[in-house]
Order: sequence, then C-alpha cells, then structure tokens
Amino acid sequence: MTDNARSRAWFRIAVVYFAVAVTLGIMMGGSHDHTLTPVHAHLNLLGWVTMTLFALISMAHPAITKGPLATAQFWLHNIGVPVMLGALALRLKGYAEVEPVIGLASVAVGVSVGLFAWLVLTRLRAASR
Ligand code: HEM
Ligand code: HEM
Repeated sequence: MTDNARSRAWFRIAVVYFAVAVTLGIMMGGSHDHTLTPVHAHLNLLGWVTMTLFALISMAHPAITKGPLATAQFWLHNIGVPVMLGALALRLKGYAEVEPVIGLASVAVGVSVGLFAWLVLTRLRAASR
C-alpha cells in the first residue's frame, strides 16, 4: 500500500461526510422526522463509504490517481455529490424547482463513477508491476 496525496484527500473528505451523515441520522432519529432519509443514506454511501473505497483503492493502486482523467474524476465527484445531496434536501423539503440541479449533479456523479471504473479497468495491471 502506497500512501499518496490523493488517497489522503479522499480519506479526509470521507470522514467529514461520515460525521455529517451520522449527525443527520441522530437528528432524524431524535426528531422522528425521516424526510431526509435518502440524503442521510447517500451522504453515508456516496460520501463516507464510496470515498473511503476511493482512498483505499488509490493506496493499493496509485496509478489510478495520475493525470487529467483522475483529476476530473476527483472534482466531478467532489462537486457532484454535495450539489446533488444539497439540492435533494431542498427538494425533500418542498422546493420542487431544484429538480434539474439534482438531475445535472447526479449525471456528474455518474460520469465520475464511469471515469473511476475506466481508471481501474485500464490501470491496475500497470500499478501492480
Ligand atoms: C449513529 C449513526 C446513525 C443513525 C442514528 C442513523 C439513523 C438513521 C435513520 C433514523 C434512518 C431512517 C430509517 C427509516 O426512515 O426507515 C436511517 C436510514 C438509513 N441509514 Fe442510517 N443512521 C446512522 C448511521 C448510518 C451509517 C453509518 C450508514 C451507512 C454506512 C447508514 C445508512 C443508512 C441507510 C442506507 C438508510 C436508508 C435505509 C432504508 O432506505 O431503509 N446509516 N438511518
Ligand atoms: C449518482 C448516484 C446515485 C443516484 C442518482 C441514486 C439514486 C437513488 C434513488 C432515486 C433512490 C430511491 C430513493 C427513494 O426511494 O426515496 C436511491 C435509493 C438508495 N440508494 Fe442510491 N443513488 C446513487 C448512488 C448510490 C450508491 C453509490 C449507493 C451505495 C453505495 C446507493 C445506495 C442506495 C440505497 C441503500 C438506497 C435505499 C435508501 C433510500 O431509500 O434512501 N445509491 N438511490
């Protein structure tokens, strides 16, 4: 396992999502208002869980962190996830007009996931040499 700046960045961002998501979960439990359940679920799953996996896979295979495609993947995910979940929270609280923002941001996250898959599929062999 090779420590690297991208992997450390993913770990740091992931724990922030974890803290925010669990705080929201506790607030939901305490208030008995579960309106934001999908936001809580995806903060945990697209934030904490997915980003920790990005961090661990980046440590195991630093080759996937190099170059413009990896940088694009990093930023698409880090912009897409908070915009998507922020807009989703507004949508669930009644602001229907934010729906196109959720759609656009979720496509950004989808492209990030596609890029990540591409990086893994094309670079693992080189990383293990
Ligand atoms: C102290 C920590 C946590 C609290 C208090 C909490 C609380 C909650 C609450 C109140 C709900 C709504 C349940 C419902 O409406 O049926 C929920 C749903 C959910 N939570 Fe958490 N949660 C916590 C941690 C986590 C973590 C760490 C994860 C994932 C890594 C997670 C993933 C989910 C998912 C996926 C759902 C949606 C489940 C479904 O659709 O049935 N939660 N949580
Ligand atoms: C751009 C990425 C994603 C989009 C647009 C998306 C969209 C959705 C939608 C529309 C639902 C139904 C919500 C509802 O019925 O209220 C859902 C539920 C769920 N998704 Fe995702 N999802 C994404 C990524 C993921 C990922 C990466 C995971 C797991 C690692 C995940 C796990 C779940 C779970 C556990 C539920 C059920 C919990 C809930 O009802 O909130 N999703 N997702």
